[in-house]
Amino acid sequence: MTTTPAHPPFRVLLSRDQILRRTHELARQIQADAGDGPLCLVVVIEGARTFARQLQKLLPGHLPLHEVRASSYGSGTVSSGRVQLTLGKDLPVRGRDVLLLEDIVDTGRTIAALREHFLGEGAHSVRTATLLSKPSRRVVPLELEYVGFEIPDEFVLGFGMDLDGRYRELPDVVVYEQDVERTFQRQASAR
Ligand code: PRP
Repeated sequence: MTTTPAHPPFRVLLSRDQILRRTHELARQIQADAGDGPLCLVVVIEGARTFARQLQKLLPGHLPLHEVRASSYGSGTVSSGRVQLTLGKDLPVRGRDVLLLEDIVDTGRTIAALREHFLGEGAHSVRTATLLSKPSRRVVPLELEYVGFEIPDEFVLGFGMDLDGRYRELPDVVVYEQDVERTFQRQASAR
């Protein structure tokens, strides 16, 4: 029996196994660097939720995940350059060591905006753990303390990352290619 694939056969850039292994390493580094008080984990939704939950499981103390929405893309595959922050009112950052959890750092604008915000709110420190980084796209110079993988400038999806809400559920990080998607859609509608 042949099964119909549920999504286009995009090229896998990073398998789920690779990602999980690297997340373990990052968790060990984060723990080794941690100060006395509990970290304040801040996940940049939506894309970073999957990575953040994995990391949360690996850090001691089951620390709560605080959510921040930071949108810079609108629809499509090109960054708009604007960062809109939507923050919960009760984020307890004063005097705390904040760890921002990101799926991907591209231009760096989102992390720069969040760092500035939380330092302005009195955080003791603000560090970043990101699953992916695209150094070639940076427009804001940044120090990223914990980087899972540096990747080339390709539009990636899966492991929580989306294109207009689609493909977040893919287990691996894959490279989006419109012709692969179109061929798949044509074949699916012909079935
Ligand atoms: C992505 C990603 C980062 C941001 C990085 O979010 O999750 O937050 O872009 O880009 P930058 O370094 O150029 O600022 P996106 O706006 O796609 O929102 P989403 O996670 O809700 O899909």
